[in-house]
Amino acid sequence: MEIKFFNNDKERWKQEYEIRCKVAKLISIPSDSEVLDVLVGYADFSRVIVKSHNVKVTAIEIVDEDIKEAIRKIKKEKLQDKIKIIKMDATNMKFPDGTFDYVVNFIGWDDLIAFSGINAVEKVFSEMVRVLKKNGILLITFTPELKPVNYIQKMDKELEKFMWGGTKKSLPEKFFLDLFKKYNIKLLKKKILKTEKRINPKDGKGLIKWFCKDYPRWYPKIRFRSYNEIINKFGNFIDKYGIPPLIPHIEVLIGKK
Ligand SMILES: C[S@@+](CC[C@H](N)C(=O)[O-])C[C@H]1O[C@@H](n2cnc3c(N)ncnc32)[C@H](O)[C@@H]1O
Repeated sequence: MEIKFFNNDKERWKQEYEIRCKVAKLISIPSDSEVLDVLVGYADFSRVIVKSHNVKVTAIEIVDEDIKEAIRKIKKEKLQDKIKIIKMDATNMKFPDGTFDYVVNFIGWDDLIAFSGINAVEKVFSEMVRVLKKNGILLITFTPELKPVNYIQKMDKELEKFMWGGTKKSLPEKFFLDLFKKYNIKLLKKKILKTEKRINPKDGKGLIKWFCKDYPRWYPKIRFRSYNEIINKFGNFIDKYGIPPLIPHIEVLIGKK
């Protein structure tokens, strides 16, 4: 099987940016709308939304380090007037019912599961619906659980399981479709986006090194493996096949309350 790699991180970042743009463009948002982005990380999706629509976004994130980096990126792009980032737990939002016209997210459910367990997914989903106005639009993005169909996919899964101490988990499409039904969200659109290229061995190892340095500090509850442990076990595999892209196969569901 021929493996296609990103030449470098710059090419990967460009493609990750383009995927976020494609997702943001699946909805049109009038400029006076109240928009909420959840599971925000470095506000990569929030920044894409305000650049592709003439709107302001409220963004909520729980980890201080992510908020710090998000603020740095927002300032760098001079978007301070467009994005308000607030430290808030998405499982227990401090907004009144029906505050927002649009509530969106771009991946991060598996991180949520790693930090707070699987029940947190429905909690966040129900909060997203609660703070959405009647007739408001919900856009959720996730990496669906897929059965590994070949050696590389099987090893990718094992690598992730090893790195995250088994705490990370993807959910099947049905899980989210059932939530749409349970919370009376009418499904308007479904879209799948795939990335063909993998991260090359050199950049993949660099990314794992960064991960091993920072993640255990940021998420002290999770027992992460050290860089050496990971390379001892998966070094040969990574040297040959690199690692999967950070945004591999994603699915977008858009619905109306
Ligand atoms: C993969 S990142 C999100 C990526 C981002 N949306 C983007 O466009 O790149 C997932 C984020 O969810 C955050 N998170 C996890 N649990 C949370 C919670 N209970 N409340 C708010 N944010 C949470 C994590 O700290 C992490 O930064």
